[in-house]
Amino acid sequence: MKWLKRIFGISATPLPENDDDWTFEDGSIRLQLAQMPEIRHPGSAVRLEGKGLPVRVLVVHGQDGRFHALANRCTHMGRRIDILPGTDRIECCSVSKSTYDYSGQPLGGAAKKPLQVFTATLSDTELTIKLG
Ligand code: FES
Repeated sequence: MKWLKRIFGISATPLPENDDDWTFEDGSIRLQLAQMPEIRHPGSAVRLEGKGLPVRVLVVHGQDGRFHALANRCTHMGRRIDILPGTDRIECCSVSKSTYDYSGQPLGGAAKKPLQVFTATLSDTELTIKLG
């Protein structure tokens, strides 16, 4: 079934279970990490969409223990991206499987341009992501 998801470009990364756990205001996303189990552990991710966001955003709790925020739009054909489980890589959900590192640099596949990356700042249990 995984190949079928790839054909249709269906992302494996969940949306937040509780949409109240994040806000978007004045160009910044704020996530309440204590209430967001989707990204509690290194090697997890959540995707943020809607609420007036100018771009879809993938928030990754990396294998390096840090939080990374990237535009959730593969630079090949615009499909969503996911973490590649068990690695420090990000992979497009489409059949072409472009891969990137946490800094958005393309590593393989059809995409040749980097992903847009946003500054993510952790303060206590709140993560702030500045867009633009
Ligand atoms: S859209 Fe991502 S590899 Fe084609």
